[in-house]
Amino acid sequence: RMKAEGRRIAMLTAYDYALAGIVDAAGVDVILVGDSAAMVMLGHETTLPITMDEMLMFTRAVVRATKHAMVVADLPFGSYQASVDDAVRNAARFLKEAGAHAVKVEGGCDILPQVAAMTAVGIPVMGHVGLTPQSVHQMGYRVQGRSADGAQTLRDDVQALAEAGAFSVVVECVPHTLGRELARAVEIPVIGIGAGPDCDGQVLVLHDMLGLYHDLEPRFVKRYADLHGVVGAAVRNYCDEVRGGQFPTLAHSFEEQKGTIPPA
Ligand code: KIV
Repeated sequence: RMKAEGRRIAMLTAYDYALAGIVDAAGVDVILVGDSAAMVMLGHETTLPITMDEMLMFTRAVVRATKHAMVVADLPFGSYQASVDDAVRNAARFLKEAGAHAVKVEGGCDILPQVAAMTAVGIPVMGHVGLTPQSVHQMGYRVQGRSADGAQTLRDDVQALAEAGAFSVVVECVPHTLGRELARAVEIPVIGIGAGPDCDGQVLVLHDMLGLYHDLEPRFVKRYADLHGVVGAAVRNYCDEVRGGQFPTLAHSFEEQKGTIPPA
């Protein structure tokens, strides 16, 4: 409906209760519990090692904090590629055990049976094409769709995902002209990340846009804050005050009888 009404969709990742609550209250439309958690929360070099159990734990925390946004959970690497059964069983766990509203899977024509089967049992599925980080050992972190063949593959993938029942598709790291073309080609929303300004919505990794994670600095990220600096300064200040005896004071302490120390 948002696409039909020309309203652009704001989507961000979140992985924990505290930040998901802030993101939700700030009015984001969709929260993605991305498998980027493997990197920004768990310190892995790629998204590949994260497990179903870890993704379920992050998703539960986000769902507990969320009152308004749609929560989409990433199916981790290896949990849906091998068979339709795996895909349906694992996707169902996100809805049943964690309270997610939908799942996201990476791939196009290669995973259509999985997308159709999940959709058929009532699981809303978001696709993800272009640069798909679960295939990093095949494609690297490179812009996709620059060649004529590559662009055609993406056209076919997005069309086929829409026909298989996906309700939306993330398109990552493609030339902006192709991003625009893909968004115009289908009725479902195309959510861009490094796909130019003409998609139907945008997603970023929260830790990237808040300036919390600096291991990778893709061109498509805009930093809206420098939380690395803010948190570092706060912690240095705390250490100085503890060491210098400025914290805690009596205002942060408990008295023998209530009311004898002024409140902080
Ligand atoms: O895992 C993730 O955060 C993602 C986004 C980058 C789209 O898939």
